[in-house]
Amino acid sequence: MQTRQSEFWTAGEAYEAYLGRWSRPVARQFLAWLGVFEGARWLDVGCGTGSLTQVILEDAAPRQVVGVDPSESFITYARAKHADAHVAFRIGNGTKLPIDDATFDVVVSGLVLNFMPDPALAVAEIARVTSRGGRIAAYVWDYAGGMQFMRHFWDVAIALDASALPLDEGRRFPICRLDSLTELFAAARLNGVETRAIDIPTVFKGFDDYWVPFLGGQGPAPHYCMSLPESHRSDLRAAPRNRRRSVWDDPYGCRSCGQSKRDHLLLIERDQH
Ligand SMILES: C[S@@+](CC[C@H](N)C(=O)[O-])C[C@H]1O[C@@H](n2cnc3c(N)ncnc32)[C@H](O)[C@@H]1O
Repeated sequence: MQTRQSEFWTAGEAYEAYLGRWSRPVARQFLAWLGVFEGARWLDVGCGTGSLTQVILEDAAPRQVVGVDPSESFITYARAKHADAHVAFRIGNGTKLPIDDATFDVVVSGLVLNFMPDPALAVAEIARVTSRGGRIAAYVWDYAGGMQFMRHFWDVAIALDASALPLDEGRRFPICRLDSLTELFAAARLNGVETRAIDIPTVFKGFDDYWVPFLGGQGPAPHYCMSLPESHRSDLRAAPRNRRRSVWDDPYGCRSCGQSKRDHLLLIERDQH
């Protein structure tokens, strides 16, 4: 199934229910680790509905934050949700940023690099718009391993339908491995590359809290889910519930079920020359 990336990112509310609720706590840990000073000019590349932008506003006391994303509907959502004198959202592509050279002190990108057609070009663009001595930092989901609820989804989907194999984000995005990310940034000749993982708990209230957001169609796994005939989707819904009952359903019905997921992160000091 060939799908244009733009088809994945069209509905802000549905994205929030699926991933926005988890991308915010990741962004919070990420910023705490970054430890950037107050009054900086920030750029959020692939800002989507504004999860990372929101945390920058709340935790980093920025002079300015600009969020850029190619999805017109996500930008509309972000503008409505994060009205603040310090923030602006613009439609734009990460591989051709509509921004002058050396404009920002800190350029960040959350959960986006793997969706770029040319991640090396995206990193070069990010470096271009970062001021001398500024910081560049990015993170992606660890689709192959630590992003557990998506891992469960694809494992079950592939067991039911082997043709789903090439759609599995764990297989499609080798860039999301720590060594690949490190190589990507090293190739851009950036100084002082640091990496770490972030784990956050993803606590589901029950099976529907896990399953229903897949019906929103935002992102590769929900898009696949909604492309299936109803009977196949019902099988997909039933399969993890049966197989992983101890994960999704508390037999006593009074406790939430939890999982954790992991991001890979990079911190790069820009070359001073
Ligand atoms: C998983 S979402 C992440 C959104 C947000 N950063 C967050 O943390 O919630 C991926 C985002 O990448 C954006 N995207 C896809 N291709 C892009 C590109 N070439 N340049 C910039 N952003 C892109 C999508 O529109 C979408 O908003």
